[in-house]
Amino acid sequence: MNTSGIRAQFPIFKDNSLVYLDSAATAQKPQCVIDAEKSFYENENASVKRGMYKLAERATEEFESAREKVRSFIGAKSANEIVFTKSATESINLVAKSYGEKFLKKEDTVLLSILEHHSNIVPWMQLKERIGINIEWVHLKNGELDMEELKSKLEKFSPKLLAITCASNVTGVVTSYKEITDLAHDVGAKVVLDAAQLVPHREINIQDIDCDFLVFSGHKVYGPTGIGVLYGKEELLEDMPAFLGGGSMIQEVTEDGFTETHLPDKFEAGTPPIAQAIGLGVAIDWISDIGWEAIEKHEEELRKYAYQKLSELPFITFMDPAVRGPRSAVRSIGCLSFVTNGIHPHDLTEYLGSKGICLRAGHHCAQPLHKYLGHTASTRMSLGIYNSKEDIDKMCEAISEAYKFFLGENAIKSTTSK
Ligand SMILES: Cc1ncc(COP(=O)(O)O)c(C=O)c1O
Repeated sequence: MNTSGIRAQFPIFKDNSLVYLDSAATAQKPQCVIDAEKSFYENENASVKRGMYKLAERATEEFESAREKVRSFIGAKSANEIVFTKSATESINLVAKSYGEKFLKKEDTVLLSILEHHSNIVPWMQLKERIGINIEWVHLKNGELDMEELKSKLEKFSPKLLAITCASNVTGVVTSYKEITDLAHDVGAKVVLDAAQLVPHREINIQDIDCDFLVFSGHKVYGPTGIGVLYGKEELLEDMPAFLGGGSMIQEVTEDGFTETHLPDKFEAGTPPIAQAIGLGVAIDWISDIGWEAIEKHEEELRKYAYQKLSELPFITFMDPAVRGPRSAVRSIGCLSFVTNGIHPHDLTEYLGSKGICLRAGHHCAQPLHKYLGHTASTRMSLGIYNSKEDIDKMCEAISEAYKFFLGENAIKSTTSK
């Protein structure tokens, strides 16, 4: 892949010294996405869905065409199954509140995995507080979800719902989300997949996976912030009550009550994120133009390189307990978290930040996973299409410098000789 050609499309990299390795938090935006939002406000700005004039009709067409692009991007059957929200977080909250309160009852089990981001934990805990569901967990074996534990918990608890990530935002491990979906369906459970970290890196097809719900965020797929996607099977969304109340989600309002409108408007109360949806549509076109094959090949090469270079640093321990060689491409996205002996992740990451090398430190909104793996925090490096081997070299050099800075000149020598 011509990385410099790709980088040139991102205005933020006009600053040549910027080393951005935090795409799991949010991806940078290509010029075409920025232009699409700007152009909407300059040329087409109007509210959507109820337009009685040309401008509003055009805005509505663009907005609905973005929905169609998302539908095709994930291979859903119908555009009615694509709900625009503000984020992956809001999409999961929508399912927990709307589906959860109507279809789950006290003591029904929801099965989560220890890999989950807080966005796919807390909404279920809030549901537990409201209606008294039971939450059970699946843990890890060799860094991957323990499928034996999963099967035995499916059998023991007959959960009504599984909420599972497709890829960890800490270790990068990709779960067997298709197999998990099939196993869950065998015991009659519904499946919510958190694809926030998978969708920027892998092509998916909803109809092949056959999950009941799937969520992701626009800003991690090179699109704007403020736009998220909820995919839901049409028959399920039809039976679920609206999440938020307000304009656009009603058929009729009287002094006595209201009736809900059709899909997907029923779940899009108020003025939706119009420019953001259009920007997301352009990001999807941009990804399709590059092509999944090229993206996956480039990121896989870099992931292996990053793993190799980081492994050469003797004071680094990977968070993934099973990493003894990098996982195969199907089992991991380009996201690696680690701790360094003797330096707190925040100190290390702040040092790197002072050199213009952007990584993330903390628990990455996955506190249960950190606790399970015996850490309170880690440093995370995550890749995007625009990264190069040079970025990884700069990161590794700066980590070595940091080690000397915090622990003294001889620290590396003594670590190596141990
Ligand atoms: C795995 C995973 N799920 C959900 C989210 C939440 O995404 P957002 O903050 O865009 O709602 C994130 C964000 O980092 C994530 O990594």
